[in-house]
Amino acid sequence: MYCSCNNSPFKPRSKTQPSSGSHQTSTRPSGPKRVMVIGGDGYCGWATALHLSNKNYEVTIVDSLVRRLFDHQLGFDSLTPISSIHDHIRRWKSLTGKTIQLFIEQQRDWTLNVLFAIKEFMEECHPVKLGTMGECGTPNIDIEVTHNGTTDTLPYPKQVSSFNHLSRCGHALTVYGKGGQARGYLDIRDTVQSVKLMIANPAQRGEFRVFNQFTEQFSVNELAALVTRAVEKHGFNVETISVPNPRVEAEEQYYNAKHTKLIELGLQPHLLSDSLLDLLLNFTVKYKDRVDTKQIMPSVSWRKIGVKPKTVAA
Ligand SMILES: NC(=O)c1ccc[n+]([C@@H]2O[C@H](COP(=O)([O-])OP(=O)(O)OC[C@H]3O[C@@H](n4cnc5c(N)ncnc54)[C@H](O)[C@@H]3O)[C@@H](O)[C@H]2O)c1
Repeated sequence: MYCSCNNSPFKPRSKTQPSSGSHQTSTRPSGPKRVMVIGGDGYCGWATALHLSNKNYEVTIVDSLVRRLFDHQLGFDSLTPISSIHDHIRRWKSLTGKTIQLFIEQQRDWTLNVLFAIKEFMEECHPVKLGTMGECGTPNIDIEVTHNGTTDTLPYPKQVSSFNHLSRCGHALTVYGKGGQARGYLDIRDTVQSVKLMIANPAQRGEFRVFNQFTEQFSVNELAALVTRAVEKHGFNVETISVPNPRVEAEEQYYNAKHTKLIELGLQPHLLSDSLLDLLLNFTVKYKDRVDTKQIMPSVSWRKIGVKPKTVAA
């Protein structure tokens, strides 16, 4: 989640001052903006914090570091080594001279608390929330269009699978079921570009906007074919195997989600290309010894009632 507001001369309302509840016309002061990146130690959050800092926003990161704790508890690690958030911030300062503030905070009910705080203390603040939108569902309507006489802007599900890692660590590509499941995909450079565009073009007071944040859509089979072609270009072979689908989902569906709004705001997509796949493959080759292939096959089935998730021995 990202919260942005103008730096000054904005004055938060005092706690005793009642909320007017009305939508007064606000004069947005110009000048550098402050952005709080909640979850700023994460995949999307850190990249976005760097992008915004680079664009001269005053960036503050708030994170509980719980994601690192999960990996630690389960004995997992990322493919590429990731140093501490403190090291990241120091390195950024030494490279650019720019400061990113850090607060290590464990919060419950983040979204509700943040929205309440905005209402009480800082109505000028503009929250932007990245969410996953029902990964387990199977949509069959076009989004951002009129459908059966009604117009909808509902979010749509998204799934990210990484065949690239499998391809170069000596493991077959695992296609669940028929492999016809389609989802939207987005380059991380477009994630940070999108957040910047949303912050720079804030919603009107009282307006609730929904953006479908993706630039391309692929089925699982299409992704497997893309990765296979890229690997073969480098003179290697990779097998694709079909794995009984442990997920409860339609394996083939009508999928034509819309994503016009970000393009209208000015998003310039970085589409999945051969050169990007080559780059990702090079990373995987470099760090392939860090891959624990025992963790790749699914160990939990959502199809069986009462199945016990496999616990990882310490
Ligand atoms: N990864 C993607 O491609 C993608 C795409 C679209 C949307 N999203 C959404 O964006 C959000 C972030 O995704 P991500 O991939 O960066 O995840 P991530 O797990 O890498 O990062 C989440 C960060 O939030 C922190 N966090 C979690 N709970 C917290 C709490 N209670 N208090 C403080 N910090 C807390 C974690 O420590 C972690 O650093 C998610 O909601 C995700 O669904 C991700």
